[in-house]
Amino acid sequence: MSSIQIAPSILSADFARLEQQVATVIEAGVTWIHVDVMDGVFVPPITMGPIVVQALRAAFGDRIVLDCHLMIDRPERQVDAFAQAGADVITFHAEATAHSHRVVQAIREHGVKAGIAVCPGTPLQVFEEVDVDLALCMTVNPGWGGQPFIPTSPAKIERLRSIIGPDVALEVDGGVDATTAPKVVRAGATHLVAGSAVFGKDDPAGAVREIADAARL
Ligand code: DX5
Ligand code: ZN
Repeated sequence: MSSIQIAPSILSADFARLEQQVATVIEAGVTWIHVDVMDGVFVPPITMGPIVVQALRAAFGDRIVLDCHLMIDRPERQVDAFAQAGADVITFHAEATAHSHRVVQAIREHGVKAGIAVCPGTPLQVFEEVDVDLALCMTVNPGWGGQPFIPTSPAKIERLRSIIGPDVALEVDGGVDATTAPKVVRAGATHLVAGSAVFGKDDPAGAVREIADAARL
């Protein structure tokens, strides 16, 4: 794979066979595994918490980067739990806290990379003020897998790239597949989350390779 990382989202995986599903995409060359955490408050669904992170860390050790996307209200209350569970990256939503700068500091105090996410309707100002390791631009509204990519996203990704500069990871999340991948990479994305386009397919490994090929431009 190129310097572009495909981060399959386990939200679309078969949870009864989670270990095999993750092993399948690792064999296809993936290192980043995206963990979508939802609390039923910031977004309506409830998904998974630190115990899933801990289980994946125990099963795969250092072979994976556990990329945790917290779609939860007041993420400052959960930083310690996710760091202790073995998260490598903790990304929280700017809309979910009054204390973005402090939450980034708290994440980094654990030696974990800190990311901030913004919903499609949220302006990018937070990235002018807070230095992050990863900037996550949602390309659907958070809460559900399988939604269509919002077509105006590439322009926003370009603006985000110009704010954060060339060296910060820029992740996109929502509706990413082999068709939309080249568009987001051209706009400046480096990390591509894909849920239904990977685990929703009969051949998740083949789907990863297809998206990675398309993202190579
Ligand atoms: C949505 C989640 C995404 C989701 C993406 O709220 O943050 O990570 O799994 O799913 P797809 O790739 O199916 O749009
Ligand atoms: Zn996500």
